Amino acid sequence: MKNIPIIVDTDPGIDDFFAIMLANSHDQFDIKAITTVAGNQVLEKTTENALKIAELFKMKARIAKGAEGPINCELRTAGNIHGNNGLGDVMLPDTTRKLDKDYAWDVIYQEAVKSEGKLQLIAIGPLTNVAIALLKYSDLHKYIDKIVIMGGSTESGNRDAYGEFNIWVDPIAADIVFKSGIPLTMVGLNVTMKAGIIPQQLDELLSVTCKFDTQIRQLFTFLQKSYAQVGYSFIAIHDALAIAYVMQQEVLKCKPYYVAVETRGRHSRGRTVVDLDRSHKTKALNAHVAIDVDKEMFIKILKDMLKYYN
Ligand code: RIB
Ligand code: CA
Repeated sequence: MKNIPIIVDTDPGIDDFFAIMLANSHDQFDIKAITTVAGNQVLEKTTENALKIAELFKMKARIAKGAEGPINCELRTAGNIHGNNGLGDVMLPDTTRKLDKDYAWDVIYQEAVKSEGKLQLIAIGPLTNVAIALLKYSDLHKYIDKIVIMGGSTESGNRDAYGEFNIWVDPIAADIVFKSGIPLTMVGLNVTMKAGIIPQQLDELLSVTCKFDTQIRQLFTFLQKSYAQVGYSFIAIHDALAIAYVMQQEVLKCKPYYVAVETRGRHSRGRTVVDLDRSHKTKALNAHVAIDVDKEMFIKILKDMLKYYN
């Protein structure tokens, strides 16, 4: 029964593809919208990818275009990981599906109000759209049940020593979201990299019969090459873990912490500064931070997803 209204705010992106594929396979998710943001690739490409993904999975969700760049800084993309088209240069079938007439931030607000406070907003790209929605609609916080982000890290980053890509692209937007007061769960690199898929596990996944086997193989193969080029023998589909958590919270161990976003540091701009020792006695614990992952459970969730598309 589709009783959990969600919106996925995304920058497809290879791992975003798997996140949307996973969300669509969950029988309790009522996916109200997919909202696109610039990140892994420029907005035109992430939006085209979202339309094609929605077509591939015959999704009824609204597809709404969002921000073409971060707040008050230049866009920096991740073509080295996700390819020139943002999806590993895999060509999904064309679509005549049309974009929503409204912008992402307006759709987020509309669907939040219509969902009467039950909407869960899952943000798996830079947080620009979410920040704009919060800035434009001062009562949005009343209508959002929770925000779950793939972003940040309690340890090192993936764009520099401390910057995880989604936060690093738009630290000002992230700062606005972390200060919003809306219940927030942070699924960071410290768990998504720990849930990295080694070749043997990838073989297990690819042995599951799935009607999108061709596209999946191409996407995983591209990601393996990208990760190998930066020294990893496994691949991490970061965004899918955020969706898996919303589906089955036991997949992650989370604890409340005070998290600040570094918006000005010369060497650490875009860092999520997690007060693990709780030294800030007066600061509100503004985020549930994922600190461990049940990797076997995550792999099973992915296998079950592939079986759904059998
Ligand atoms: O750091 C990983 C995150 O950045 C993922 O959401 C990936 O898709 C990129 O957007
Ligand atoms: Ca993403």
